[in-house]
Amino acid sequence: MEKEKKILYSGMQATGKLTIGNYIGALKNWVNLHEDYDCFFGVMDLHSLTVRQNPAEFRKNARLIYTQYVAAGLDPEKNCIYFQSHVPAHAELGWILNCFTYMGELNRMTQFKDKSAKHADNINAGLYTYPTLMAADILLYQSDLVPIGADQKQHLEICRDIAERFNNIYGDVFTIPEGFFPKTGARIMSLQEPDKKMSKSDENENATIYLIDDRDAIIRKFKRAVTDSEAVIKYDPANKPGISNLIEIYSVVTGKSFEDVEKEFAGKGYGDFKMAVGETVADMLDPFHKRCDELLADKTYIDHCMKENAEKAAYFANKTLRKVQKKVGLTERIR
Ligand code: TYM
Repeated sequence: MEKEKKILYSGMQATGKLTIGNYIGALKNWVNLHEDYDCFFGVMDLHSLTVRQNPAEFRKNARLIYTQYVAAGLDPEKNCIYFQSHVPAHAELGWILNCFTYMGELNRMTQFKDKSAKHADNINAGLYTYPTLMAADILLYQSDLVPIGADQKQHLEICRDIAERFNNIYGDVFTIPEGFFPKTGARIMSLQEPDKKMSKSDENENATIYLIDDRDAIIRKFKRAVTDSEAVIKYDPANKPGISNLIEIYSVVTGKSFEDVEKEFAGKGYGDFKMAVGETVADMLDPFHKRCDELLADKTYIDHCMKENAEKAAYFANKTLRKVQKKVGLTERIR
């Protein structure tokens, strides 16, 4: 069957508050690309279970993330935005793909190593097989393009390897997906430790700009951002990681090149620059906050979109799942 438009697939874990890293590395690109593709965006709540969750908080956060996708500019009537756990095919294909994935491959995953070190008291099997579930997410929809930040590159590579392995045995079952990584902003760094990725789960609140932060918090956090003592605004990530990270954020939000940013702030102090970055980010998030509030007040609309889109996603996912089940020789269910 010829697809009219290519398929774009992506998602985020349903835990914690989305950060400006999630926005710049992924969400913003979804919004920029979505018109040219048939899009599926998942709120990846099954993946979130790999870390212990407070159930009430988790449920609330997951819904907020769904709402934030919409508030960022993804129309849920044109894009299939759904919860991963509402489409059982993800878990079912995930299991089958586990049987086509080697432990040696999973052992190499840096995210598994990092998370095991961070949650040493809960190194569960889900954390280990996280990449096979992510492969199932992508492969179920015959996805062509997966816009993600740099930290997810290794997971996309293993997904491609699993798909190729499967196709080599059973014929062309899966489309082999390509990654889309933004030229600027694929890895936004912590404001406090600029050699570390900005992360939802950083214990230091000042390290991270959350999308729900208000103007004061945003400006305050940028003001406190760790830089260097050189007082020159120049893009040089190896020697000036703090300032380079701020230049990168400012460049993405304003659309200006690094050279233009350097020219704009030539001879100015870090204080002025940090203030400008803070204000620009706060201005960008202003309409997003308003839209988010409106959507949060309209429970019926979001419920409706969640329901319709789960059905739509399940329809597409089941088509691939049935094909896979048949190929591997599972007995067809009598209906
Ligand atoms: P997650 O929830 O950690 O992050 C969501 C997206 O945000 C990007 N990102 C960043 N980009 C730039 N700078 C940062 N500091 C930064 N932090 C996060 C991530 O690269 C990602 O694109 N495993 C995925 C979720 C997932 C998924 C999928 C994604 C599950 N199934 C299928 C795509 C397709 C994850 O943990 O993302």
